[in-house]
Amino acid sequence: MRAVDIIRKKRDKERLSKEEIGFFVKGYTNGTIPDYQAAAFLMAVYLNGMDNEEAFILTEHMMHSGTVFDFSHIDAIKVDKHSTGGVGDKISLPLAPLVASFGVVVPMISGRALGHTGGTLDKLESIKGYRTRLSPDEFKKALESVGVAIIGQTEDIVPADRKMYALRDVTATVESIPLISASIMSKKLAEGIDGLVLDVKTGTGAFMRRYDDAKLLAKTMVSIGKMFGKKVYALITDMNQPLGRAIGNANEVRESVDVLLGKGPSDITALTVELGAYMLLIAEVAQSVEEGRELIKKAIENGKGYEKWCQMVENQGGDPDAILKDDFTRTRYIKEVVSSKDGYLNIVDTYKIGVASSLLGAGRAKKEDVIDHKVGLYMKKKHGEKVEKGDVIFEVHGNDENKIEDAIRVLDGSFEISPTKPEDFKLIYEVID
Ligand code: URA
Repeated sequence: MRAVDIIRKKRDKERLSKEEIGFFVKGYTNGTIPDYQAAAFLMAVYLNGMDNEEAFILTEHMMHSGTVFDFSHIDAIKVDKHSTGGVGDKISLPLAPLVASFGVVVPMISGRALGHTGGTLDKLESIKGYRTRLSPDEFKKALESVGVAIIGQTEDIVPADRKMYALRDVTATVESIPLISASIMSKKLAEGIDGLVLDVKTGTGAFMRRYDDAKLLAKTMVSIGKMFGKKVYALITDMNQPLGRAIGNANEVRESVDVLLGKGPSDITALTVELGAYMLLIAEVAQSVEEGRELIKKAIENGKGYEKWCQMVENQGGDPDAILKDDFTRTRYIKEVVSSKDGYLNIVDTYKIGVASSLLGAGRAKKEDVIDHKVGLYMKKKHGEKVEKGDVIFEVHGNDENKIEDAIRVLDGSFEISPTKPEDFKLIYEVID
């Protein structure tokens, strides 16, 4: 078999066989296929797509390029959640311990900030001492003792994705439904889970801005999951405004703790409850989504979710009490973006809010950039709220005045003040199963 023939086939819109896809994934992972051929292959897939069967085969080969965990010795159902990424999306933080508080095992392998979107690992690393890099054995022990661990992808988990993702990032081939689906599903299925809830974001702050693209992505991932015999639900949810009020890292951890303590913003709390309900349904803890919702709400009210969060943070080396202290989020400067007139806040471009947070230092422009965990934004008003001239819309928390100025310039294009109340964004659009 030759890589050039496989590239040609996909270039000419033909279907690839199991052997051809396997040859490509193996060859690129072990270095026998060079970057330039892999780049051409990825662009051919980007332009001409793959059907669900090809995407399933790609996922399978990628997943088996490294360690696939087997936690079958743990007598509990293993369920995870994955979000396609957004701004202010900290849902994994309260969700994982809430679900684990019911005895469900949550083996969560998460990612870092990507483009304008935040990453769960970067958020967790705001907690001094919290180890996102656990060895496979430590990961197993954490699941056996605590029932939940949130860690990062190591060298041996889906190495094919690590290489392909880095190449896609620099060859304009990220936004491809089969490539995104295989990338996400291979990593999630390598966790040894029985079921998965996908939070597929759509709107101005999502990778899939258009609803139809988000829906196709959701359907493709659900279909791949089913082909692996897993229980999968995908919720298509809104990313036309940030989730919650905090955008950054440490401030998002603090807001997540607020959710667990029952005093979090209503949108994140509602989405956490909804995603948790589907996870409990998969885990057979709840017999219906309604029952699942009630159970998650109860675990917030009785503090069981927070208790599990503290256990998880301590088990991974962090101090949960440190999160509650003022200096956990304290920055050198706080600047304000205020309304220039009376009206209603209309968020028109959440992508820009994500970029502004990243410019402050909450994300990376280059791979080697170091994150400033304490910087970020705080939305004093949410979409549709009434504002008066001079009201604060965003608080900008930073440690570098130039970066704050850059962030404020970008933020200016993210909202308008409308004379009439803009239409509300729905939080959850559709469930695909
Ligand atoms: N997240 C992933 O893990 N992979 C993608 O391709 C896109 C988002």
